[in-house]
Amino acid sequence: MCGIIGYVGHEECAPIILEGLRRLEYRGYDSAGIAVHDGQALRVRRAAGKLSVLGDLLAREPLRGTVGIGHTRWATHGKPVEHNAHPHVSGGIAVVHNGIIENHVELKRRLQAEGRVFSSDTDTEIVAHLVDLATQRGLSLFEAVRATLAELRGAYAIAVLAGNDASKIVLAKNASPLVVGKGDGVMIAASDVPALLQHTRDVIFLEDGELAEITRDGARIERLDGTPVNRPPQRVHWSMMQAERGGYKHFMLKEIHEQPRALEDTLRGRVLLEESDLEASELGVTPEAARTLKRVVFLACGTSYHAALHGRYLVESVARVPAVAELASEFRYRDPVVGEGDLVVAVSQSGETADTLAAAKEAKERGAQILAVVNVQGSAIARMAHGALYTHAGPEIGVASTKCFTAQLAALTMLALYLGRRRGALTAERAGALLTELVAVPHKMRDALADAKHVEDIARAIMHARDALFLGRGLSSAVALEGALKLKEISYVHAEGYAGGEMKHGPLALVDRNMPVVCLLPDDSTLEKMLSNVQEVRARDGNVIAVVNTEEVAQNLATHTIKVPRTAEEFTPLVTIVPLQLLSYYVADHRGTDVDQPRNLAKTVTVE
Ligand code: AGP
Repeated sequence: MCGIIGYVGHEECAPIILEGLRRLEYRGYDSAGIAVHDGQALRVRRAAGKLSVLGDLLAREPLRGTVGIGHTRWATHGKPVEHNAHPHVSGGIAVVHNGIIENHVELKRRLQAEGRVFSSDTDTEIVAHLVDLATQRGLSLFEAVRATLAELRGAYAIAVLAGNDASKIVLAKNASPLVVGKGDGVMIAASDVPALLQHTRDVIFLEDGELAEITRDGARIERLDGTPVNRPPQRVHWSMMQAERGGYKHFMLKEIHEQPRALEDTLRGRVLLEESDLEASELGVTPEAARTLKRVVFLACGTSYHAALHGRYLVESVARVPAVAELASEFRYRDPVVGEGDLVVAVSQSGETADTLAAAKEAKERGAQILAVVNVQGSAIARMAHGALYTHAGPEIGVASTKCFTAQLAALTMLALYLGRRRGALTAERAGALLTELVAVPHKMRDALADAKHVEDIARAIMHARDALFLGRGLSSAVALEGALKLKEISYVHAEGYAGGEMKHGPLALVDRNMPVVCLLPDDSTLEKMLSNVQEVRARDGNVIAVVNTEEVAQNLATHTIKVPRTAEEFTPLVTIVPLQLLSYYVADHRGTDVDQPRNLAKTVTVE
C-alpha cells in the first residue's frame, strides 16, 4: 500500500504535493519522492525514511513548477532505500505507482534483453520503461499509457508525467484506489480523498480499467477499450479527520473493512492457479530444503502467535511436517532444542517485536533456517532472516491487529501448501482445488463484512458483560483465542479463548446466564464435537452467540446467530474471524473506550 498524488494547476506544486503526501502518509511512510516539471524538464527528489526527510531535502534543493507527481511508499518489492523510492524515471517519463505488478519479472527480463538498464529493485520501474518505449514509437502519453497497461497484470494506480509536456498527467487504475479532484483551474488526483480536500470537494472516483488525462481545465476519462466515461464529480462532505479514516469512525474499523483487499494483495503474484502451485522465490526455502526439513517451529507473540497456531496446524495437516508454535517470549528461556533441519518461522506484523526478534536470533545461532513472515519491509526480523514472506496488508495504525492477522493467516497457508506440494503430501489436484477456493476467500470476507450491522446489534446486547468466553475446535481454536484477545484489549472486558473440548475440564464452572459464550461452529470436521460442547454451555444457561455457515446448526442453542459464507476447512478462520473483530470493535465503541489506542498498550513492543 502506498500513496500517490498528481497536481496540474497554477501554483508552485512541490509544497502542495508534499502536503498531500502528508495526508496519505497513513498508507506508507518508508520513503517518498516527487517529480516536478519546471517548464523545461523533469526534476526529481527522492529520500528514504519518513516524509520529513523529503521535506528537508526539498528545503535544501527546492523544485519549481506547477505540474508534478508524488509518492509515499510502503515497500513491497525492494528495500525502502532511496533508489527504490518513486517516482521512477526512464527517458523522459516519470511514474508513481501504488499496487503490485504481478508479471514484472518476465517484463523486466524482456526489457533487459532489449538493452534497458534498471536502477531499482521495484516492480514499478518497468512501467516507466514501457511508457517511454511507447512514446518513442510516436504514441501520445495517453496512448502510451494505454498500450503499457495492456501488458501489465496486477494491481495499480499510477500517475505518469512526461518531460516533453508540462500540461498534463496521465492516470490509470486497476484494483488500487484513485480519485480525481476538480478545482478552479486546478486538477489534483490522489490515492485518497484527504490529499485533495484543501483544494476541492468535487471528486470523481476512477473505476478499475479506466485511464484519465488531467490538465488545468479538466479530465478526459476513458475505459481501456476506448469507451469514453462521462462521470460527473460528486461532492464529499467529510471532515479532514473523517477522510483520513476513509469515513470510518476509527482506524480499526477501517482496517477490518480493508481485509479483503489486504488478502488479495498478499495472494497476488504468489498463487499460480494454472500450475496448482505457489511462487516461493522469496522464502529462502529451496525445493530441496522443503523436502528435507525435519520440523517447522513458529515463533510469535500476541495476535501473531494466534496466526502461528494456524500455521502449525496447516503445516502438519497439509504438508505432513511436524510443527510447533511457541510464544517467542518464552522460547529463549528454556534452552530449546532447535537447530539444523528446523525451519523457524518468525511471525510478526511489525518485524520489530523484541521477543520474536531475540527468539529468532537464538534459533539462527543454533543453526536453524529462519523465515520471516512480516508486514514491514526491511524490519529487523526481515533483515536477520534467511528469507522473508511479506504480508501486503499495508500499514496498520490501530493497536489491535486485524488486517495483518488475516494477511498472516494467508501467508502461512501459502507456506503450508508450498511445503505440501514439494514433499508430495499434497497432490496437484487437491492443491488446485484449494488454491481456487483461496482466491475466492476475499469475496467471502466481503459478505461477512456486509453483516456488520447485525453484529453491532449483538454487541449492544452484550456490551455490559463483565466476562466472555470464545470457543472453537481444530483451526477455530486459534480463532477463539484471537477473538478473546481482540475483545479484552480494546473493550477491557475480561475474555478467554478455549478449545471447546477443554470446557469440561474447568472453565464450564464460570458459565451462567450472564456469560456471553461465542461459539465457532463452521461446517467442518469438528462441528459435531463442537455442538456437544455448546450443549454443555446451554445446559448451564450460557448466552450462546453462534458463528455458523448454516443457520439450522444453532437452532435452539443460540441467543444470537451470525452466518458467514462457507469455505474450505483450511481457510475457515479467514472468514470466521471477521464477525469476532467486528463484535469486539462495537462492544468497545459502545463502551466508549479508546479503540485505536487502548490503555497500557503499544503498537510495536520493542522491549522484552
Ligand atoms: C494484537 O492486537 C496486539 N496488538 C499484539 O498482540 C501484537 O500482535 C503483538 O504485540 C505482536 O506484534 P507483532 O506482530 O508486531 O510482532
